[in-house]
Amino acid sequence: MNKTNLPGWYYEYKDQIEVSIANYLDSYFITSSEPLQQFKEAIVYALQWGKKVRAILALEMYLLLTKQSFSELNLDEDIFKVCVALEIVHAYSLVHDDLPCMDNDELRRGQPTVWKKFWEYKAVLAGDLLNSLCFEILSEVWDTKKSQQVTARISRAVGFHGMLWGQVEDIYYENTPEDLDIKKLISLHDKKTGALIGAAIQAGAIMSGNHEYTQKLEDFWKKLGLAFQIKDDILDVEGSVEETGKSVGGETKGFVHLIGLKASKEKLQELITDCSNVAEELQSEKLWFLVKYIGERGK
Ligand code: IPE
Ligand code: IPE
Ligand code: MG
Ligand code: MG
Repeated sequence: MNKTNLPGWYYEYKDQIEVSIANYLDSYFITSSEPLQQFKEAIVYALQWGKKVRAILALEMYLLLTKQSFSELNLDEDIFKVCVALEIVHAYSLVHDDLPCMDNDELRRGQPTVWKKFWEYKAVLAGDLLNSLCFEILSEVWDTKKSQQVTARISRAVGFHGMLWGQVEDIYYENTPEDLDIKKLISLHDKKTGALIGAAIQAGAIMSGNHEYTQKLEDFWKKLGLAFQIKDDILDVEGSVEETGKSVGGETKGFVHLIGLKASKEKLQELITDCSNVAEELQSEKLWFLVKYIGERGK
């Protein structure tokens, strides 16, 4: 599934999220300091070109559970703060993940990585700011109870219990892939990638105030998060630099290495089918599309 297959509503959501990000950054960087204005360029750059799929999942979950349509939303509604926060913290993870001391990648989203374009110190600092900015924005959600709940959810997803843990294991097993088994790899993927995808879905549900669903969706978001990373592992083997916009073939320990391409695709399909069934039960064509997209995306 390539870019041209994306439906119009995906672009509508994405455009709005990108406008919200740009507005937020403009309101934040109020300074005539030249070094800071130059630093802002790295921050803006780090937030460009991505699929924005985490924010779109949160937004769709919110609309679904509040039974609203996209056109009814105002730009200043709290849900957009959450969407911006999700993409900001995701951008932080990518900027640091690409650093020479981490994955040492020079290409991301079809562009030079932040460290390559703006120097390493700026990439470290850009990641630092993006990480704290996410929580600054979440603290600005007007409904204090929801603010506390989404902050707790997202901080767990990217911190010790989630992405941080996953990244530590990811790099550890890079050199000792023979020590990994499927159980350990699934746990690593769940933490490194699945946790934030899951937090995005849950954040949408929390913001909707529909608590009944926040728990019910657990199986759904866990499977979708794992599916997302398995697809990434498959793209690392089957995808091209042109289409994915990042280097491929560097993975030494992903799903494909552990169980082979055929079994990885079967596992992906199984997860996508389960998640599609949930989207059907929820009678959401858009969620159904997002699930399919995660399983079939080309980048
Ligand atoms: C890439 O995430 C990193 C992983 C967690 C696999 P995305 O595929 O969502 O990256 P962008 O934001 O669209 O570039
Ligand atoms: C992406 O992980 C970063 C995080 C999930 C924190 P990977 O290193 O596996 O993915 P790419 O290939 O760089 O996007
Ligand atoms: Mg990595
Ligand atoms: Mg990487």
